[in-house]
Amino acid sequence: MIRTHDAGTLRAGQAGETVTLTGWVARRRDHGGVVFVDLRDASGFVQVVFREGDAAVLAHDLRAEYCVKVVGDVIRRPDGSDNPNLPTGEVEVVATELLVLSESAELPFPVDGNDEISSNVEERLRWRYRYLDLRRTGPARALRTRAKITSIMRRVMESHDFLDIETPYLTRSTPEGARDFLVPVRLQPGSWYALPQSPQLFKQLLMVSGLERYYQIARCFRDEDSRADRTPEFTQLDVELSFPTEEDIYDLTEELLVALWSEVRGVDIPRPFERMTYAECMRRFGSDRPDLRFGLELVDLCGLFATTEVGVFKSVLGAGGHVGGLVMPGGSELTRKQLDGWIDWAKGRGAKGLAYVIVEADGSLRSPLVKFFSEAEVAAFAAESGAVPGDLVFLVAAPEREALELLGALRVAVAKDRGLVPEDQWRFLWVTDFPMFEPYGDNDEGWTAVHHPFTAPSAADGATFHEQPGTALARAYDVVLNGSELGGGSIRIHQSEMQQRVFDTIGLTRDEAQSKFGFLLEAFQYGPPPHGGIALGLDRLAAVLAGTDAIREVMAFPKASSGGDPLTGAPTPITPEQRKEAGIDARPAD
Ligand code: AMO
Repeated sequence: MIRTHDAGTLRAGQAGETVTLTGWVARRRDHGGVVFVDLRDASGFVQVVFREGDAAVLAHDLRAEYCVKVVGDVIRRPDGSDNPNLPTGEVEVVATELLVLSESAELPFPVDGNDEISSNVEERLRWRYRYLDLRRTGPARALRTRAKITSIMRRVMESHDFLDIETPYLTRSTPEGARDFLVPVRLQPGSWYALPQSPQLFKQLLMVSGLERYYQIARCFRDEDSRADRTPEFTQLDVELSFPTEEDIYDLTEELLVALWSEVRGVDIPRPFERMTYAECMRRFGSDRPDLRFGLELVDLCGLFATTEVGVFKSVLGAGGHVGGLVMPGGSELTRKQLDGWIDWAKGRGAKGLAYVIVEADGSLRSPLVKFFSEAEVAAFAAESGAVPGDLVFLVAAPEREALELLGALRVAVAKDRGLVPEDQWRFLWVTDFPMFEPYGDNDEGWTAVHHPFTAPSAADGATFHEQPGTALARAYDVVLNGSELGGGSIRIHQSEMQQRVFDTIGLTRDEAQSKFGFLLEAFQYGPPPHGGIALGLDRLAAVLAGTDAIREVMAFPKASSGGDPLTGAPTPITPEQRKEAGIDARPAD
């Protein structure tokens, strides 16, 4: 190394030593005679003082983010000038030599003086100059947190004899339900690879191989719209094991998550995690990933309005729909404008509207709807909805799932708006007993697998799921934290007869099943073991542990939320020659 010490490690005990440091000029204060430089390297900062000699002369020309080498003597700082905010704050380095290793151009945004992960610099600009963004303490710390997480993951997985096995990136389409990214193939013009949406099928094949315990920190590719917690290219801790019950997968996942929270955040998470069925989650929270840090449970008002004359409730209930409510504590003080804001919020999510009833201080009801309420409905409203004087109750009438999902989203928005979401609380939850299928398309054109089509049915539904796809339950589970889905998995089907019935139910013909998954079905003829697994979203985990909402903040070189990679400029058009060579326009050989 061309340095003797790491800048951020110098302490008072090293006073008197001569050191050689290398790093970047984080900040420079030029007091005419004396120049102070905060020198930054990967270990932290130290103050360097240039007082005399050639070094001091040269130091006047230093600018932010020049890369330099400094030789100097460590001294205790003069009395009263310690900086308690800096680990090296008791010392400074009096420079005797300065060498500029490389200069820096004018910076597109300030690198110094911002310890947060995010910053008010426009996202595109940060990703465009991500290498400079990562010189900032916060973003660099986020990547360190991520590296610590993968290291702990490997340790825990290996302590249970899981093997780290890589699977192909150039492959066939995998069944996670998003669009594929496709790759043309020069040697077979007209034929295309798909990048894997997950290693799902390969990890199942590894179970047929008898390897029994597989894991991989695997990149996945899904051509879907970006969000704060979703990007087209992301990473999973992917796990599969043979002969498991759900309990083995819960145990392993809990051990891993508890280790992460303990070692990364210093927090003890109690085990076992809470569990709740999908049906209960939907009924109480209107979501399959409920945030349990606050109450605000949904209320079912179908009973109250069973014989109502309120037109919209009557018609929705008559059609088998749902009327539900959500109490906003203290909501009676909302202004007209605020109320309209909530109604617009609901419409923005595709709802026809959002009704409300205010319970006044004297217990009377105020709402455009009240004049249509029967006396019994007025009398029972507060008790049935759980509202107290001063509260407001939002009401939604719609087909059941739509109503519950809207109320569930409203619940989260109201909790945020009212400041009801506590910080630093970790509510882990297993969501179990997912439905096996859900209707496909707008007009119930058929069924599609809720998790993926290799997920086993519950014992009770094993023989009959194809007859009652709408009510069959799957051996699938998600692990949820504070309203975010961290991971999901299932026990798989290992009998080809049952697998065939799933394909039949989702309308996959035998030919289609053969052409898409024939290799898996074939492997399943050779004594496949019962198996199951889970995949945890590494980016989501790292974001939560690093203390940010946005998974891009824990990716080294993220794509912009608007799509594309501002740093390299990818994706780019290709030349006609590349197009020809890759066989993009070629028809596949028969
Ligand atoms: P699933 O599709 O539920 O399961 O994905 C598992 C976890 O991966 C994360 N995740 C994402 N993270 C960022 N961006 C995305 N676009 C994205 N999509 C998913 C989530 C999610 O919980 N093969 C199955 C697992 C199995 O059955 O074993 C699978 O991929 O945190």
